[in-house]
Amino acid sequence: MDMKFQRRIQRYGWDKAATSYEAGWRDSLALVQSRLLDIASAQPGERALDVACGTGLVTFPLAQAVTPEGRVVATDISQGMIDMIQHEAAHRGVGQIQTLRSDAEALDDVPDEAFDLVTCALGLMYFPAPDLALKEALRVLKPGGRIVVAVWGARRNCGWAEIFPIVDARVQSAVCPLFFMLGTGRMLAMELERAGFESVLDERLTTTLPYPDETTALDAAFVGGPVALAYGRFSEETRMEARCEYLASISPYQSGNGYRIPGEFVIASARKPWEPHDSK
Ligand SMILES: C[S@@+](CC[C@H](N)C(=O)[O-])C[C@H]1O[C@@H](n2cnc3c(N)ncnc32)[C@H](O)[C@@H]1O
Repeated sequence: MDMKFQRRIQRYGWDKAATSYEAGWRDSLALVQSRLLDIASAQPGERALDVACGTGLVTFPLAQAVTPEGRVVATDISQGMIDMIQHEAAHRGVGQIQTLRSDAEALDDVPDEAFDLVTCALGLMYFPAPDLALKEALRVLKPGGRIVVAVWGARRNCGWAEIFPIVDARVQSAVCPLFFMLGTGRMLAMELERAGFESVLDERLTTTLPYPDETTALDAAFVGGPVALAYGRFSEETRMEARCEYLASISPYQSGNGYRIPGEFVIASARKPWEPHDSK
């Protein structure tokens, strides 16, 4: 896999998806984001880093929790997402958020041991090297600092999963080749342990993704998410074929005029050791 290319697909894909993201996903992700925030339990005065922040659905509640003295740094690879969060912070008059466009796997402008808490909600599956991102999170956490990460769960439990093969069949390079890997078994917890975290806990959460009609379900899948770049380049005929295949794949979940699609998440939390591990 060409990692540089994968990062570019993500960066420019999410630029395209930024303005449609919340309409497609806000309701579907509210449960996992609120559970992640509960586990993170950010406290007034803390410094938090929200990695792959998107439009800020986790960043804004974090900023509220650390107020008034605390700060949140929000990073994302997509400038479109960074623009959205900056605009919203200015609109809401939230001064505790600092933004940084950065690849999670190389947080070059973030100093060592600067944060009490790192969060990453539904970002890790898109990184070509999630192990590097977890090592970076470990580096920027203070000793004893905590991390909370959420990813989508097992492929068989995510009713919308056919979106990837449907799009991949029409492009030259798979959009998210490792997407469901971290949500399988104890993979996420094991990656955290391997990166050097301790006190790792994980849990699975099942949910239903509600779409009131066909258009909302199609827009969430094709326009408001990671395949937006590829889809934007399809001819109208190819788009139509892809949309029909996707609707067929979610037809078991039809409910009235819309859909109720099953989904699953894994959330894991861990701590950075107080003392560096003996490397001998
Ligand atoms: C599904 S959105 C999640 C956004 C937000 N955390 C939330 O919970 O709503 C995934 C985000 O990951 C970002 N992303 C993808 N690859 C990245 C990378 N290598 N480094 C940083 N961010 C990345 C995308 O730009 C996108 O904003």
